[in-house]
Amino acid sequence: MSNGTEHVSAKSEVFPPSDDVVAHANVPDYLAIRQAALDDPAAFWDARAKELIDWYEPYNEVLNTSNAPFYKWFTGGKINIVHNALDRHATSWRRNKLALIWESEDGEEVTYSYLKLWRRVNRFANVLKSMGVKKGDTVTIYMGRVPQLPIAMLATAKIGAIHSVVYGGFSEQALADRIADAKSKVVVTCDGAWLRGKTVNLKDITDEAVSRSPVVQKVIVYQRTGQDVKMVPGRDFWWHDLESLPIASPYCETEVMDAEDGLFILYTSGTTGKPKGLLHTCGGYQVHIAATLKYVFDIKEEDRYWCAADPGWITGHSYIVYAPLILGTTSFMYEGAPGYPYPDRWWEQIEKYAISILYTAPTAIRSLMRFGAEWADRHDLSSLRILGSVGEPINPEAWRWYYTHIGHERCPIMDTWWQTETGGFMITPTPVVPLKPGSGTLPFAGIQADVVREDGVPCDANEDGYLVVKYPWPGMARTVWGDPQRYEDTYWADFADQGWYFTGDSARRDEDGYFWIIGRMDDVIKVSGYRLGTAEVESALVSHPDVAEAACIGVPDELKGNVIHAFCILNAGVQGGDDLAAALRQHVRTEVGPIAMPAVVEFVDSLPKTRSGKIMRRLLKAQVLGKPLGDTSTLED
Ligand code: WTA
Repeated sequence: MSNGTEHVSAKSEVFPPSDDVVAHANVPDYLAIRQAALDDPAAFWDARAKELIDWYEPYNEVLNTSNAPFYKWFTGGKINIVHNALDRHATSWRRNKLALIWESEDGEEVTYSYLKLWRRVNRFANVLKSMGVKKGDTVTIYMGRVPQLPIAMLATAKIGAIHSVVYGGFSEQALADRIADAKSKVVVTCDGAWLRGKTVNLKDITDEAVSRSPVVQKVIVYQRTGQDVKMVPGRDFWWHDLESLPIASPYCETEVMDAEDGLFILYTSGTTGKPKGLLHTCGGYQVHIAATLKYVFDIKEEDRYWCAADPGWITGHSYIVYAPLILGTTSFMYEGAPGYPYPDRWWEQIEKYAISILYTAPTAIRSLMRFGAEWADRHDLSSLRILGSVGEPINPEAWRWYYTHIGHERCPIMDTWWQTETGGFMITPTPVVPLKPGSGTLPFAGIQADVVREDGVPCDANEDGYLVVKYPWPGMARTVWGDPQRYEDTYWADFADQGWYFTGDSARRDEDGYFWIIGRMDDVIKVSGYRLGTAEVESALVSHPDVAEAACIGVPDELKGNVIHAFCILNAGVQGGDDLAAALRQHVRTEVGPIAMPAVVEFVDSLPKTRSGKIMRRLLKAQVLGKPLGDTSTLED
């Protein structure tokens, strides 16, 4: 089994934790705790739920398996994540501690204490209520990387509504599909977003998307760039106008939720064009993310923590917004792109704000590595104590650069494997676990992951296989919004007899039990760590009047991890050429978003298909990579 990705060697160096790191770790006996949790994962999570989370009313059962795979956690418990993330801090000594430091692309600095953030959230929660949002309603949020994005999320959760954040890099059709599927009557957006000194017209894109999904009744617009936008009377409202009304009082009752009530939907691309909305719920999710952040990044009161992801993806939801706030941490957030407007922007910020924890993606590291270590050497990075990586396998070269030039061989790298579906970290070291560059090391305490063959038999050491999870965990997505059957079919059908969750990834385990992720086995492509479905890009291509059929594959790329290579069959009479290829790339950009833009558009006369009509992307990939075609017995032609 191979997906064309070069394998990292399992026989790599081992980096044991330093005495200093172990001496100061929050959980120095983690490996013993992990061992104990193997036999009774629920007991481990039960203890974390009591240690880290306040409940309005205690739960009466930790895990309910009666309707598997629709597991329930902490049933009977009453809770609200905003109580744990804000209310309790705003009424304690932490009220004057900084919750968030934000820097704009042009260098403006804005800080929020816990009290200030809480008051802003309360005000916006009242605004949402005045727009008719009620418990259980969905609110779609489509914004740039500004503090108002977490504020909108927290305000939605506070009043018991369900947020659906759509990444600001998505475009018209992607946004329209997500609004329609979530049936959001209210959309929160910005006039525009800053990106590399230019503005992205978020409001224009929202207008177009809203025109394609007529469910929307109200649009709230946060003014960020000041660019010209069209405001539709009765439908569109400025955030600042609403916030200045008496209705927007800084006090708002927090809604009491059941542990299993919906908290948010987050869309991921799947094997059909229709994106699937993974539903996460109120109770288990916060237990999982708070425990993992505390254990893995060793969060301490005095930390300055920077998760450089975008809040619009799961990493941002769990580890920019919710978990750091639950733990009372000070977070840093930067509006712009890494390396903009100069290569040492990030390193300068680490020095300026004395960041102690940096959590980012291999693609960002590789892009900054290209500029050379001298840019990092100009800055005092001694405040750093822990580094992190997420989103795709980190290649040993990038790992070493990050470890040597950013962490100065002092800072362990937490390579965290997880997914939108898992809610929080699943396979990850903690600072006391010996590291191997490129390996996520071991399943987290309470997580039963394994690498198995098609029939469920565990693989031998260093044998490629299916990465599965054999026991439920509290942060797991509970269903696909509006489509429980799809949830069962996508995640629980491959190993239905055993009742295991299939991750969609292939992996291997070495002789020490360390996990090495190889990559996706399905039609998901990771471009710069962003998750894209081939289907969404293909539907965008065939929505172009000249295209009859399309197929996309991911091709390994040194910088981005993968890039998209698209094959198109044109309609009769249409001639392919450079201009049309450029037009099609632009079309995907407008419909799905810049990250989905194919690197290559190739015109072909036919596509390899199975007899049942499924496109065999595996063959296209082998051809592009110049690899053997393998088994072609199911090929139609
Ligand atoms: C990949 C991102 C290797 C994997 C949190 C997974 C990784 C998919 C790692 C989920 C890692 C994530 N090492 N691969 N540390 N982290 N992946 O839903 O293929 O955007 O299935 O969640 O990213 O992507 P998603």
